[in-house]
Parts: sequence; structure tokens; C-alpha cells
Amino acid sequence: MINAKTRLYGLIGKPVEHSLSPVIHNALFKRYNINAVYLAFDVDDLESAVKGVKALGISGLNVTMPYKEQILEFLDELSEEARAIGSVNTVVNREGKLIGYNTDGIGALKALKRFTEVEGKRVLLLGAGGAGKAIAYTLSRLAKVVVLNRTERKAKELEKFGVKGGKLSKENLKRYLSWADIVINATSLGMNEDRSPIPKGLLRENLVVFDIVYSPLETNLLREAREVGCLTIDGLWMLIHQGAESFRLWTGVKPDVEFMRREALKGEKRSI
Ligand code: ATR
Repeated sequence: MINAKTRLYGLIGKPVEHSLSPVIHNALFKRYNINAVYLAFDVDDLESAVKGVKALGISGLNVTMPYKEQILEFLDELSEEARAIGSVNTVVNREGKLIGYNTDGIGALKALKRFTEVEGKRVLLLGAGGAGKAIAYTLSRLAKVVVLNRTERKAKELEKFGVKGGKLSKENLKRYLSWADIVINATSLGMNEDRSPIPKGLLRENLVVFDIVYSPLETNLLREAREVGCLTIDGLWMLIHQGAESFRLWTGVKPDVEFMRREALKGEKRSI
């Protein structure tokens, strides 16, 4: 029941209307008997929105495009990861202080670990945007990572984490796909479209293929990878695991990710 003690959490971004996060987090609050609600806020003026979070005592936030980097300057403290990555997707309001975290990297790692060993593996990461950076930072600590990006400079910048960076070209794709054990798509290619960042002919059966795009659930890349016989991991696992880490930061509860996935899938059907 919503009453005078109900705490408020939310997502800020633009646009946010297709997000599955409200469905997932509200289902979790109910399941764990936490008196809180989660709403999506379509924000134009980030600075005012963050001031409003403080003024109203909103308990926590998720942050999505295009604000993951811009929000840093408005926060009081950053976790070590958030500072290193330069991007925040989770904010905790701790007694009036806003603390920024990044759970994208750990979310991707946990999603991968459900299906495969990661330690010591050779990982080809496509994309050096917000999500790509976070994944590069986290995986660089336990695997060998090559990052390819359309804008080469952004991939090179990630070399400070100990990964190798290069241009997302056909030649590099060919070279590093024959080297890799795991390939991750962290570009937006394939999101609500038929394109794939990897020509089908370059895929081979013993690759693990992880796409962080979750709309559609089976992207072109994942369909072609499945047809070739690869182990495939969809982007909903990433969304859920990063959300589970946010939920734990807010509430101290380590949520049931299988339950989260079922609720997200139900929510997805309802919104179509
Ligand atoms: P997110 O927060 O989801 O990572 P982002 O920071 O906007 O979003 O990053 C989008 C990623 O997809 C970037 O790596 C981008 O490449 P650039 O850095 O060169 O922009 C990549 N991307 C988007 N459209 C692409 C396309 N048509 N071909 C290749 N890469 C693309």
C-alpha cells in the first residue's frame, strides 16, 4: 500500500517510455515487501532534476541515455568504478548525499558468468560508448580484452584500462574474431533494426556471443550466431544483472534474477 512512508526511486533519461526498469523494480519491491515505488522520469533539464531529487528526498535513481556522463558533475561522491569509467547508471541518496555508481560492467560480467567461464578468456568487445567503457573496465581485470569501435580514438582511450583498442573495420573483425573466445556487442547496432555488427560469415560455432541490445530480444546478431551454433546470451540478462546490482545498492537485498527476468518478459508483452 502506498502511504506516507513510501519511498520513491526512479529512472531519469530521455526517452524513458520504453524502459522495462519500472516493471522490474516495482515487482521486486512487492516481492521483498519494501514500501517503495519506482517511476520513469523523462528529463529535459538534468541539473534541476538532480536538485529535485535532493529537495524531495528521492531515495535512488537509475540513469540512462543521454545523462550517464553528464550527471557526474551534479553528484556529491562517486564510487571507484564510476570515477574510473566516467559514467553513472545508479545513484544512491545516502542521508541527503547523492552517490554515483556504475553497475553496467558488473552486470555484464554476471550475465556472462551465468553461461561461461570469463577468467583468462579472450574477449572481443565491440563498442566504446557508455556501456562499452564500463564493460572494458570490469573485464580488463580478469580477461584479455580487445575493443573495436567505429570511432577508433574512443577505443584507444580505453587502453588506460589495460585493453587493446582499434577501429571497428572488417579487417579487424576478421582478425580478432578468429582470436576470441567471447564476443560482446556493446554498440547500438541491431537495436530495433535488422543490422548486425558482424557479418555472418565471420561467426564460428565455438564462440560465445553476447549482445547487450535487448530490443528485439533476439537481435540479428544473436539469430545468426544461434544458426551457426554459437552459445548466445541476450541483452535482457545484462539489463537484469545491472538492475539487480542497483537494487542491492539501494536496499541491501540481493534479488532473485530469474524472477526479474520473468517479470521483465511479462512487462515486455504488456507494452506491445
Ligand atoms: P551506450 O550508453 O548504449 O553505450 P553510446 O554511449 O551512445 O550508448 O554508445 C553507442 C555505441 O554504439 C558507440 O560505441 C558507437 O560508436 P561511436 O563511438 O563511433 O559513435 C556505436 N555505434 C552506434 N551506431 C553505430 C554504427 N552505425 N556502426 C558502428 N558503431 C555504432
